[in-house]
Amino acid sequence: MNFLWRDETLFRDESVFDPEYIPETLIHRERQMMALAMNLRPALRNSSPIHTILFGPPATGKTSTLRTILREIDDHAIITYVRCPLARTSYRVFSRIFERVYGYPPPHTGISIARMYELICEGLLERNKPLIVALDDFNFLERDAGNEILYALLKAHEEYSIRIGIILVTTERIELDEKTGAVFHPDEIYFPLYDEDEIRDILLQRIRLGFYDGVIADEAFERIVELTARTSDLRFGIYLLRMSGIEAERRASRRIELRDVEMVYEGGARVFLAKSISALNSDEREALKIIYSIEGDVNSGDIYRILKAEVNMGYTRFYEIINKLERLRLIDVVMGKKGRGRTRYIIRRYDRELMLKALMEG
Ligand SMILES: Nc1ncnc2c1ncn2[C@@H]1O[C@H](COP(=O)(O)OP(=O)(O)OP(=O)(O)O)[C@@H](O)[C@H]1O
Ligand SMILES: [Mg+2]
Repeated sequence: MNFLWRDETLFRDESVFDPEYIPETLIHRERQMMALAMNLRPALRNSSPIHTILFGPPATGKTSTLRTILREIDDHAIITYVRCPLARTSYRVFSRIFERVYGYPPPHTGISIARMYELICEGLLERNKPLIVALDDFNFLERDAGNEILYALLKAHEEYSIRIGIILVTTERIELDEKTGAVFHPDEIYFPLYDEDEIRDILLQRIRLGFYDGVIADEAFERIVELTARTSDLRFGIYLLRMSGIEAERRASRRIELRDVEMVYEGGARVFLAKSISALNSDEREALKIIYSIEGDVNSGDIYRILKAEVNMGYTRFYEIINKLERLRLIDVVMGKKGRGRTRYIIRRYDRELMLKALMEG
């Protein structure tokens, strides 16, 4: 039979493709998992854990690694995991810690951060357990909140001799003020981009977990690997797997074919681009638009000249913008020769029309 019956499906378990899903074993992150576990281990043995920063580009498994390790030590520590984009102030972060220590939120009438913080320390002493505070997407905290939180937590350690481990997760370099920087010396664990073979392994694992055996044609799978490697975004690959599964089902096919992938690719890429673009301010968008409007080779000097005519900015700022666009995997930058000197060439990672459409919609 080549056709699916109405109640048949290609999915063994569709939740495997949810953004929140974390597989039991994280392949290609063994080194990072081990390093984080080693840093936290002292907390479980009455000595101080090593504060840690998990650093690397988007979709490199930082959150997944963190949550996997935290799950393992859950019984031995009081763990506060905070998504900073949802709790942007010191007050909210301390409320979350309070809630984890006491099992209920701080009083509604509101108490000062200082008071809340005393209570947290007293609660910890009573329970005699280490506190682990993990701040995911740390750079999304409001200005100064990051410094304030870190400084307070580190002081708690001194004043109350409490065992505290701080884990920060970030895609950008963190800059702390002098006071905080002087007392916070974290170990850094780096999460590099996955290469094409690693992407293939990870997507294959998802397929085994999420689809019934043999439902995806080899060329369809290879195309998804290729498209994912081009954007270096695993999330995009996982999304493409799910959407092409749904597309194959829609046409009642028992197999996911290349045409299903092609069918969902453009729409999917636009959704993904729109998300990256939403993290850009207007100058950054303008630079991106210029880069994708020009035909042929693009070198950074030309872009700077055009951009400067439209928005007034110095070279340092321009340089930062280019770095950010590269970090978000919207462009690549390579050094090349130009005449007698050297120049930075910008390479577009996406189809020009696709990007310009996404920019117009965003
Ligand atoms: N080694 C891996 N094995 C299996 N799945 C992975 C692996 N690494 C990442 N993923 C999957 O890729 C997606 C992105 O991973 P994750 O959220 O951990 O990345 P991140 O580094 O925290 O990204 P961001 O900086 O954007 O928050 C998730 O769906 C996750 O399950
Ligand atoms: Mg994350």
